[in-house]
Amino acid sequence: MKIRVLGAGAGGGFPQWNCNCHNCSGVRNGRLNAKTRTQSSIAVSSDGERWVLFNASPDIRTQLEHFPASHPRHGIRDSGIKAVILIDSQIDHTTGLLMLRESTQPLEIYCSDMVKQDLSTGFPLFTMLAHYCGINHHPVPLDGSAFIVPGIDDLRFHSHSLKSKAPPYSPHRHDPHNGDNIGVIIEQISTGRTVYYAPGLGEIEPHVQQAFAKAECILVDGTFWQHDEMERAGICTKLALEMGHLPQSGPGGMIEQLSAVTDTRKVLIHINNTNPILDEDSPERQQLNAAGIEVAYDGLEISL
Ligand code: MLT
Ligand code: MN
Ligand code: ZN
Repeated sequence: MKIRVLGAGAGGGFPQWNCNCHNCSGVRNGRLNAKTRTQSSIAVSSDGERWVLFNASPDIRTQLEHFPASHPRHGIRDSGIKAVILIDSQIDHTTGLLMLRESTQPLEIYCSDMVKQDLSTGFPLFTMLAHYCGINHHPVPLDGSAFIVPGIDDLRFHSHSLKSKAPPYSPHRHDPHNGDNIGVIIEQISTGRTVYYAPGLGEIEPHVQQAFAKAECILVDGTFWQHDEMERAGICTKLALEMGHLPQSGPGGMIEQLSAVTDTRKVLIHINNTNPILDEDSPERQQLNAAGIEVAYDGLEISL
């Protein structure tokens, strides 16, 4: 199985257009040893030719242009991207669907009913796309049971609901429902190898621990280092958990949670531009290195 990180940043990307924080200004003026990152998306394939996209980032056009395996090869209109799985209805995970409107086929979209609702009402991408390529919505299970994507041979997906957050525009922002956010175990049927993807994760529930233990590789919420990181940066008073993201540091944080997981490749993804781990020379990054935790970057490819 191949996993391609198309975008490892959180909403806004890194640097963010209007942000003058330590990281964003540092990467712009070259003071910081850091890689820029586009917004949150990965692609997964078993054969390197037919790919499932996880999330459609606002940066998808550039992401696909830099990803030759997705380029058209057969006929006048074609793509290596065969289906899209949405893990939530956040703007950074869905806006790219509009950039896929030139498709000559309806987009095959796998998401929960909650996400479908948001994308048919508050942010009506599905309604809009009906006037372009159209979409075929496939509901995903929320209890960890398996589903497949026709034409994507040799991959099986298991999705479950996560405690994180629906987007600010959703009626569920302060009224959580199952399926507002999901995590997905991706399994290669022929080898049994698995990867777990959960870029928005606020609480490590028992089913999440089980997924951590089962997967050979986990790509997990790396948004914030500290609970009050945005406030410390002088940006806003929103706390990490209010936004549905478990911070890495501190008691019960992601580093502690991941220390309980052995024999697994651990990769943080969906990194917010304020997070000090973006600076490869920072003490926080050294702490992750010592804990055996990687930080995803755009273009990272993982083969399992
Ligand atoms: C989030 O996951 O909280 C987002 O990155 C926010 C956004 O896209 O604005
Ligand atoms: Mn996000
Ligand atoms: Zn910034």
